[in-house]
Amino acid sequence: MIETYQQVYQNAFGTPSLVLDHGKGAYVWDTDGKKHLDLLAGIAVNALGYADPAMMKAIADQAAKLAHVSNFFTTEPQINLATKLVELLITEGGRAGKVFLANSGAEANEGAMKLAMLHKPGGRIIALEGGFHGRTLGSLSITHKPAIREPFGQIPGCAFISTDVEALETLGDDVAAIFIEPIQGERGVVPLSPEFLIAARQTADRIGALLVADEIQTGMGRTGRWFAHTEHIQADVVTLAKGLGGGMPVGAIIATGPAAGLFTPGSHGSTFGGNPIVAAASLAVIGRVEGLLDHVQQTGAWLTSALEVAGFPVRGAGLLLGVTVNDAPRLVGEMRERGFIVNATGDDTLRLAPPLIITQADLEPFIDTLRDLRG
Ligand SMILES: Cc1ncc(COP(=O)(O)O)c(C=O)c1O
Repeated sequence: MIETYQQVYQNAFGTPSLVLDHGKGAYVWDTDGKKHLDLLAGIAVNALGYADPAMMKAIADQAAKLAHVSNFFTTEPQINLATKLVELLITEGGRAGKVFLANSGAEANEGAMKLAMLHKPGGRIIALEGGFHGRTLGSLSITHKPAIREPFGQIPGCAFISTDVEALETLGDDVAAIFIEPIQGERGVVPLSPEFLIAARQTADRIGALLVADEIQTGMGRTGRWFAHTEHIQADVVTLAKGLGGGMPVGAIIATGPAAGLFTPGSHGSTFGGNPIVAAASLAVIGRVEGLLDHVQQTGAWLTSALEVAGFPVRGAGLLLGVTVNDAPRLVGEMRERGFIVNATGDDTLRLAPPLIITQADLEPFIDTLRDLRG
């Protein structure tokens, strides 16, 4: 099957290491029948793991009613999901806002960039060194890694600053928006300091820019909260995707305050955004994650301390952790041989983003194996 993949699929990802067949809870089976503990969850997506009964039922029930309507019409799942997202932001101290539903993280950020352009026409869009916001041409323009951005150029006015507070002080009122990730996932799970977050909020207020929190990887319970940034500040615009759909393709923009009124008919659109099956699945995921936030905090704290006791430095929050190791790419391969799916973000960091339902009992063999293979 891998040989066929190589023949028929464009080589955007290199050669996949496994052909996956089915899953249950935190475990997934490949087409050779081998069982793996999934500590990556489709890169922080499969919040409920695999084959969650509530999510499956929501998808099946909605598919039996309506799979799609155009944006000339709306549906109850679309309205209910938007309502729920606004409520969750308010729960964590945010302002009332309005939602736009998209199909992916990059698209959510693309829409947030358009909000910035409407907020301050001609204004610059500032993002952070080490940040990742997606692969579409807009979101790629604010994705820092030169190797993936430079072949495609950059939207004029997009620029990067470092994650030092002093860098914010250089910004003036020609800036329309500042994009941040509360924890820089693709950089290797690197949290922004509370001081930087607070200074970013103050800077955005000083220069009249929108502060956009990209919570695509960190949001929806991944850190044991609905949003990672709300522990310290409130953003004007929040983007979500990944865990929001628990495996169904969805992105969301929550715009608060005056930003909520920037889109008018014609400003933006999406054929599939707000799809009722996807929205119904997201609502089911949110309903289950509501009961998992404490579990995520406790399991994340236990996992962090177990890894530290085993001698591995750990960064991150909840169940989004970066573990410092020697030769991460080698470990990824060796761990996979032993039935554990983990990911390397560079040579010295393993990224762990398991399903939020994972338990200590699931994780104990992982820690033992990592200790054995550390080299
Ligand atoms: C913080 C962040 N923003 C945006 C994206 C892009 O999301 P998508 O791959 O759904 O377009 C990602 C994906 O890894 C991400 O981690």
